[in-house]
Amino acid sequence: MSKIATSFTHVAVALDRASNTALYRQLYDQLRDAILSGRLAPGARLPSTRELASELNVARNTVLNTFEQLYAESYLERRVGDGTYVSHQLPDDLLRVTKPQFTPKRSGQSNSNAATFMPVSVANYSGPPRPFRTGTPAFDAFPYKLWRRLLVQRWSNSAGEMLQYSDSAGYLPLRKAIAAYISTTRGVRCVPEQLLITSGSQHALEIVIRTVLKTGDKVWIEDPGFLGARASFIAAGAHLVPVPVDNEGLNIASGMERCSDPNLIYVTPSHQYPLGSTLSLSRRLALVKLAARCGAWVIEDDYDSEFRYVGRPLASLQGLDNEQRVIYIGTLSKVLFPSIRIGYIVAPPDLFEALLSARCLGGHQSPTMDQAVLADFISQGHFARHIRRMRVLYAERQQALVNAARSELKGLLEIKPSDAGMHLLGWLPEHVDDQKSFRAAMAAGVEVTPLSAYCIEPPKQGALRLGYTGYKPREIWRATRRLAETLRNQHSKDNPR
Ligand SMILES: Cc1ncc(COP(=O)(O)O)c(C=O)c1O
Repeated sequence: MSKIATSFTHVAVALDRASNTALYRQLYDQLRDAILSGRLAPGARLPSTRELASELNVARNTVLNTFEQLYAESYLERRVGDGTYVSHQLPDDLLRVTKPQFTPKRSGQSNSNAATFMPVSVANYSGPPRPFRTGTPAFDAFPYKLWRRLLVQRWSNSAGEMLQYSDSAGYLPLRKAIAAYISTTRGVRCVPEQLLITSGSQHALEIVIRTVLKTGDKVWIEDPGFLGARASFIAAGAHLVPVPVDNEGLNIASGMERCSDPNLIYVTPSHQYPLGSTLSLSRRLALVKLAARCGAWVIEDDYDSEFRYVGRPLASLQGLDNEQRVIYIGTLSKVLFPSIRIGYIVAPPDLFEALLSARCLGGHQSPTMDQAVLADFISQGHFARHIRRMRVLYAERQQALVNAARSELKGLLEIKPSDAGMHLLGWLPEHVDDQKSFRAAMAAGVEVTPLSAYCIEPPKQGALRLGYTGYKPREIWRATRRLAETLRNQHSKDNPR
């Protein structure tokens, strides 16, 4: 490492020529630090730029650039015909600045409103996915080369257009491609002009909530249900009405007993999150009727319906709604990859303009380049092919988990196959606490989530949620064995002989 150093007025400066940081930037950082820490006191005289450049063996321009920056930020002052001095004007509190320390406070620990209005903690992912983290597509089977080719083509052929501000509703060819796709595969009744592209479906939810919800509005939510939705409703000051879920999905009769005139209803009808049931046709019709009667909006969150392994994907609730009360939300996070951050809203005609304003205020637009590549991916037929391939792969991976569980988890966790989705629920024996099992599994490096985390009213039986789509069968088997060992140990600890 070639370091060059000097010292003046008791301040040592050391520049590292091998570093990736420009020399001017290194000099700037060190002088600024010296001033802020008081090692260079207000009024201290600095050497001339020529002297300093020669001492440090750098170009004079390097020193000139540094000094210019420090003048501009008022750390230094010039005295005509005299020289350069540390500014006298620095406020005392600035001079005591220490290295920034950052220890984020958890929800509930902070005094600020921002943190306290979020009583449910939502997922924040870190580290590479490992079994059985949910919402993880098969990154090992993504068509990387194809995606790169489409990206390169776009950068080569239409880069200028891609860099500008553009329509907040989204890139029109993408809206056309998605409208065609959801009309045919999901029975959504829509035209491209009523689609709004968002940064994923959580963002879509935020936009819808901001547009239609007033503080104190009554919101039916599924219990158990999606935490991201619950957190957004709480943040918006909604009055939550937890509605139980059974094997026909949201229990409408139960909801009616709790609150017969909701302002908004949030549902995952194709594949209830997290229990996996499908909203029956009679309940769908009842829901649409209820919404029309009380003028409620219905948010249909259709997050992973592409992955149905038996029969055809189910038609959407939106397609049944003649009164246009259903706001349909979809995402590319599960079917392609989550970091693409592209989702969409199919807006009822009455809401389009208001939703567009909210989308515009919430970050203007999604990156045009990503939207364009995705539009090409869909319109050239790659998307449909990718879904077909993933359906086969995910069915195999689900089978691997079911087989591994049958072999390793007998009496510890009962995992049943499912016709759809990207995760399975493993039911714990009665009276086994799923939070305890979850903590033990996490400590052993197996990522699961406890069912009770999604519940407002405590569940009758504990369960663990296991994602399988992102992992090869041998990883699934290995993690299943580790999970079995952990649950067995926990069982022995809880039931000593
Ligand atoms: C039911 C449900 N809705 C919405 C989302 C949010 O997805 P996105 O990545 O599109 O924001 C998720 C993510 O897990 C989900 O499970």
